[in-house]
Amino acid sequence: MIFKSIELENFRNYEVLSLDFDSKLNIITGKNAQGKTNLLESLFIMGLGKSFRTNKDTEMIKFGNDFSKARAVVDDDGEETEIEIICNQEGKIIKVDGTKLQRNADLLENVYIVVFSPDDLRIVKEGPESRRKFIDRELCQIKPVYYSDLGNYKKVLKQRNYLLKERNKDEALLEVFNESLAEYGTRIIEERYRFTERIAKISSGIHSDISGNGENLEIGYETFIKRGTTKEEYKEKLDKSIESDLYKGYTTLGPHKDDLCIKINGNDIRAYGSQGQQRTASLSLKLAEIGLIKQETGKNAVLLLDDVLSELDIQRQEYLIKSMKDIQVFITSTEIDEKLRKLLPEGKSFFIDNARVCQYNN
Ligand SMILES: Nc1ncnc2c1ncn2[C@@H]1O[C@H](COP(=O)(O)OP(=O)(O)O)[C@@H](O)[C@H]1O
Ligand SMILES: [Mg+2]
Repeated sequence: MIFKSIELENFRNYEVLSLDFDSKLNIITGKNAQGKTNLLESLFIMGLGKSFRTNKDTEMIKFGNDFSKARAVVDDDGEETEIEIICNQEGKIIKVDGTKLQRNADLLENVYIVVFSPDDLRIVKEGPESRRKFIDRELCQIKPVYYSDLGNYKKVLKQRNYLLKERNKDEALLEVFNESLAEYGTRIIEERYRFTERIAKISSGIHSDISGNGENLEIGYETFIKRGTTKEEYKEKLDKSIESDLYKGYTTLGPHKDDLCIKINGNDIRAYGSQGQQRTASLSLKLAEIGLIKQETGKNAVLLLDDVLSELDIQRQEYLIKSMKDIQVFITSTEIDEKLRKLLPEGKSFFIDNARVCQYNN
């Protein structure tokens, strides 16, 4: 799958923009704060219906305007699909080939996207939230049911937490919430277990390749609610935790508290790995996403590299570039040095100056 083109209107700092892309490589350079990440963000939204930078859709609307519009044409082996997303203060409308979607989850299968930013190089080192986000983003794309289960889980969790924060022991409501959380939660946990097994397999191969010294990367899913726990057993755990949850003012148990355990040669590297190990493991995890999407859907994802190449040493850069063959890649950077450019395949280059984009040949 590739992006053929994008058109933007009142999107972030773009008033209007219309670009045709290369099917392999698109390099986007420009000084800071000119609109490079904004452009990648517009592509990401086409795949997932929401941003990788913010949960507030209205942030995408160009200051001083009341709507934003982004339209892209995606090509899947010669079959074209047009995706359009319009945001205004009331919400957002997603259209595929001119028809408004009833469920946002229906957007996801049109194009698969892997985004890689400097933050992602810290997935291993940072707190559990960034690792949960990593799992969720990937699973939402390949499993539409997961997307709706997670959305529903989060909605109920918010309501339950609100009650707990108010120290309101409304038993009837808690009963309903516990029931729903147990239902969505068991499915979410099972999917995350399966995801972890598959991503672990792919990433350990990549990790030992990059590290070049036979380092053994192991990844496991860490949860208080073990695999195979039934919905009824899960609910019972929630029922039992009501008193302590009320005391703490939030829901202490569930997939929103889970984590990925990451080990190299048997040692947990989340807190104690060297910076190099943590970075290589993060890179391996990100690259494994592309492999997993291919395995699960048979499709090539589009890779968005936001300002990340310059953060990698030459060996890791080379590995990353090697993994880019066969897929469409967008690279942003303030500049691309000559040595790096020589490693990159042919493609289109764009230069952005204050939301004005010009294309030039490499
Ligand atoms: N909703 C918005 N309306 C107008 N400008 C915006 C909006 N959101 C962000 N910007 C502007 O976009 C610029 C940052 O763009 P970004 O793509 O992140 O830069 P970079 O080229 O460094 O990646 C900033 O100047 C910021 O003020
Ligand atoms: Mg940027």
